Amino acid sequence: MKLSDDEVQKVKAVWQQVISQKDEASKYFYDRLFTIAPEIKPLFKLDGVRQRSLLMDILNLMATRADRINEIEETFVNLGIRHVKYGAEEKYYPVVRDVLMDVFDKFAPNDLDDSTKQIWTKLHGHVSKIMISQLSN
Ligand code: HEM
Repeated sequence: MKLSDDEVQKVKAVWQQVISQKDEASKYFYDRLFTIAPEIKPLFKLDGVRQRSLLMDILNLMATRADRINEIEETFVNLGIRHVKYGAEEKYYPVVRDVLMDVFDKFAPNDLDDSTKQIWTKLHGHVSKIMISQLSN
């Protein structure tokens, strides 16, 4: 996957807004996720603080390396392998995507136009595809 310079800038602009409010944003993410899909809550064993921090770290990596995402493919292969062990089913990847877009909508409303939403969706889709492919390996 290759994003244009303009697309990379848009990804980063949204992310700057969100990371500057990382505690509230990551809390909101899990609140939304467990409201929409309460049945997956038992799969999450880490304490909330650690969980939120790891989520923000990986999103930060996706945003800051958006211009060279192919160079860190192995990170997502390994993340996907761990997700097989966590019991993360394929059907929940779109749920995570929608929740992420809700977070962006709430915490970066001025930077999130339709085209920016599409670019983040593409980036998330790329990462999800790599992770999901580990389910059949
Ligand atoms: C692109 C999509 C996703 C990303 C980037 C992502 C990212 C992460 C990260 C960074 C962790 C921290 C632990 C680690 O690095 O192994 C994690 C843990 C976890 N994720 Fe995901 N995830 C995604 C999708 C999903 C989906 C669809 C599910 C469905 C149930 C899920 C369930 C879990 C669970 C159960 C844990 C274990 C946390 C714990 O034990 O508390 N994830 N995820």
